Amino acid sequence: MDLLVDPAPLRQQCQKWRSQGLGIALVPTMGFLHAGHLSLFDHARTLAGRLVVSIFVNPAQFGPGEDLDRYPRDLPRDLELCRAHGVDLVFAPEPGAMYHPDHAAWIDVPELGAGLCGASRPGHFRGVCTVVAKLFGLVRPHVAVFGEKDWQQLAILRRMTRDLELGVTIVGRPIFREPDGLALSSRNVNLTPEERAGAPAIRQGLLLVQKAARAGQLDAAALGLIFRRHLAEKLPAARLDYAEFVHPEALTPAARLEAPALLAVAVFLGRVRLIDNILLEV
Ligand code: PAJ
Repeated sequence: MDLLVDPAPLRQQCQKWRSQGLGIALVPTMGFLHAGHLSLFDHARTLAGRLVVSIFVNPAQFGPGEDLDRYPRDLPRDLELCRAHGVDLVFAPEPGAMYHPDHAAWIDVPELGAGLCGASRPGHFRGVCTVVAKLFGLVRPHVAVFGEKDWQQLAILRRMTRDLELGVTIVGRPIFREPDGLALSSRNVNLTPEERAGAPAIRQGLLLVQKAARAGQLDAAALGLIFRRHLAEKLPAARLDYAEFVHPEALTPAARLEAPALLAVAVFLGRVRLIDNILLEV
């Protein structure tokens, strides 16, 4: 397994693989890898001859006062996990290697990025799109794999790739969960033991809504109330950022669940912000 920290040799190595006729799969990450990331690697490995993983805590997608400084990091451990999961090349640059001091070009998909997480994290998806486009430019992968945990991110990256003709196949993979239902996230380590014990209530609330929808309740406001009440009862310490029903691709609000809709939620537990979602097919 190769470890590269500079863009130029990364571009060279990927160019070499392409000229040998090898397909390249890319999985972008911010590191502190967990089983959710590893499930993406395992799938990506089946899609192409070479697997490139990037590990980069991208400053451009963190707002002022967000958890950039607290974001957990452990490169030696990440490298071991990558090795064990058949990664061919890890790209782990420093911010200075990724952004010129006078970096000035940005990619934004405002129609999809303004709501949900974008509403409480202005500029977040602009940072995500820009770094992913840069990685696509360096690696020029045939396929890139992303998790459905960050559903809005996946929808935005699909649209960016389609609209800008970037020529990368975007593959989404299901949310990998702890046995108690909590979606795996690098940020889970920042939960206190009490917060961690209560966190599965988020998933339980999503399942309650799914049950009610399947039983015929199609009104988004009524279903939203079910989620809010459950959270207030089971996890009173939580602060709900949002719980919204949206069209799964357009991310526009859905008032009634006449077509498949996504329920996306974000919840603050102490200083940690957790997101989760469920696709409701009625
Ligand atoms: P990060 O949070 O490290 O996530 C990297 C990838 O792993 C994303 O595609 C994310 O959706 C996926 N992932 C995270 N937790 C998951 C889980 N429990 N199950 C399945 N997949 C999961 O998302 C980012 O980094 C960044 O925004 C990035 C795309 C790398 C751009 O900087």
